[in-house]
Amino acid sequence: MESSSLPLLEVPEASEIRDWATEQGILILAHSYQEGFLQEAAHFVGDSLELARKASETQLDSICFCGVHFMAETANILCPNAEVFVPDLDAGCSLADSCKVEDLIRYQDHLEVKLGRRPTSIAYVNCTAAVKAAVDVICTSGNARAVVDSIPENEPILFVPDMHLGGWLNEVTGREMILWNGACEVHELFSVDTLLELQEKNPGAITMSHPECPKRIRDASDCVLGTAGMLRLVKESRGKTFIVGTEGNMIYRFEKEAPQNTYIPAPGASCACNLCPYMQLNTPEKLWKCLHDRGPRVEVPSQFRRGAMASLGRMLETT
Ligand code: 13P
Ligand code: SF4
Repeated sequence: MESSSLPLLEVPEASEIRDWATEQGILILAHSYQEGFLQEAAHFVGDSLELARKASETQLDSICFCGVHFMAETANILCPNAEVFVPDLDAGCSLADSCKVEDLIRYQDHLEVKLGRRPTSIAYVNCTAAVKAAVDVICTSGNARAVVDSIPENEPILFVPDMHLGGWLNEVTGREMILWNGACEVHELFSVDTLLELQEKNPGAITMSHPECPKRIRDASDCVLGTAGMLRLVKESRGKTFIVGTEGNMIYRFEKEAPQNTYIPAPGASCACNLCPYMQLNTPEKLWKCLHDRGPRVEVPSQFRRGAMASLGRMLETT
């Protein structure tokens, strides 16, 4: 196919988009919470940690990031010579929005006075580049436990912005980290009553929940895993039924990579779908347009680059 002959208004097949991007020297990355078409169009699909690593390793100078804004910022920090563009600039994240850098710095200062020493600050990767620059180390759901374990036991820790992930980490590591009170608006809305009903109707089903879920959901689950951990478990399993306590599009990936099992989405409080409204802003049409426009671009302001690189670098060295 001639690269110049593709009509812009008609969106080609996912595989044609990927081939066209390859010809143009563009790497398409997609988070597993993206709709199936976008996952098929991507050169690489992964969790936050895998995508950060892919971005840091690429030799290409253009990355199209199908995910949310903080992920594209992370790619731009880890791969500063590449242009990073996204299908929709408004694809944000309730966790990132819950932690403004000015509030964080004020709180760190307050804790320093109160504790007589500045706590080590760990930020879940779901935060802005400005917040990444203001903390000591980043973690993702895939490596959070190892990152917390890497901090000496006597050091006080401030964990931002996800109180549920932080609460789970306190449970499994025995630490008493001070927690920010942010939450993911998708994982927070799972209904425990409907989950229990679903478990009763499906005896033998294994319930997996993401650590962004509140304690009541985690406690009703058989295992608490990040998206990469969930994928590993379903690939190792045969003929099992899984109730999936994370964003609904994850099931597309499970059905593709581990079709030998059955997957049931955990129910939300008000709807059964549990789709992230920010991830859903990215569509095949916007992907196709953004590949042609090489925009909208995501560029981290220069004042945050060095600090954010340091905290991300510390994470990549630790795990
Ligand atoms: P991971 O499990 O990929 O870290 O992602 C969770 C998430 O909510 C990303 O926004
Ligand atoms: Fe943010 Fe939750 Fe959407 Fe992930 S699923 S991008 S944490 S709002």
